[in-house]
Amino acid sequence: MPDRTASDLAQFIRDRAGDTPVEIALVLGSGLGGLADDVDGIAIGYDQLTGFPGTGVSGHRADLVIGRLEGRQVAVLGGRAHYYERGDAAAMRLPLEVVKALGATRILLTNAAGSLDPGMPTGSAMMLNDHINFSGLNPLIGESTDARFVPMTDAYAPHLRTTLAAAAERAGQTLFEGIYAWYSGPSFETPAEIRAIRTLGADAVGMSTVPEVILSRFLGLEVAAISAITNMAAGMSDEVIGHEHTKEMAPIAAAKIARILKAALPDL
Ligand code: HPA
Repeated sequence: MPDRTASDLAQFIRDRAGDTPVEIALVLGSGLGGLADDVDGIAIGYDQLTGFPGTGVSGHRADLVIGRLEGRQVAVLGGRAHYYERGDAAAMRLPLEVVKALGATRILLTNAAGSLDPGMPTGSAMMLNDHINFSGLNPLIGESTDARFVPMTDAYAPHLRTTLAAAAERAGQTLFEGIYAWYSGPSFETPAEIRAIRTLGADAVGMSTVPEVILSRFLGLEVAAISAITNMAAGMSDEVIGHEHTKEMAPIAAAKIARILKAALPDL
């Protein structure tokens, strides 16, 4: 089958899910797939969406769910592709273009992350207020228009952060706020690398999200992001670090994130 453009795919999706424009897109991180179960709508496997990345990471769903959640029309990308899978920092470009073509103006990204803050324990939820691209990679490398020079000041929309913080308070959920450092993975960081990014001001570390934030800002989407803290980062505690542990611990923070998002959605 020839490559399909974002607008072809959006039409294919509308033919199945209906014409109601999407308002908000969500991307679910490792172990956070349960959020999609609450959407009243239909799921379309990535395998039906030509050009969508395979999600070869266990703990990720591989479908797009379109429907209603807390009175809003949402598109939930249940699986994400990571740079470390194929060395492609732009792996999520087509899915993001498709949710934009479906009408989304805002995107809420979630991920699993390690904590660099001794006061932010495993099981916490942390809203990103900025990031450090510690990988040096960029999904817009090769883009030829001047649109590639995307400003990254207030990349995490201040008004969405205010809404999320207020919703967390209403829902009685602690929501930490901090800076996320993107480390390419797939190996975890060394304790020395964690000390280095702590010194640089990071509060959490993970292997995703930053390329999607850059692509989303490039596409003109407003961005918010929340990390599920699944472990203390390397060298910060005796806690086990590993993907099994991430999948095991993600649901604790995911339950908090789900309560916060549901409280926030009517106001987002
Ligand atoms: N480092 C990088 N990515 C992660 C971690 C971590 O400690 N925990 C969950 N994802």
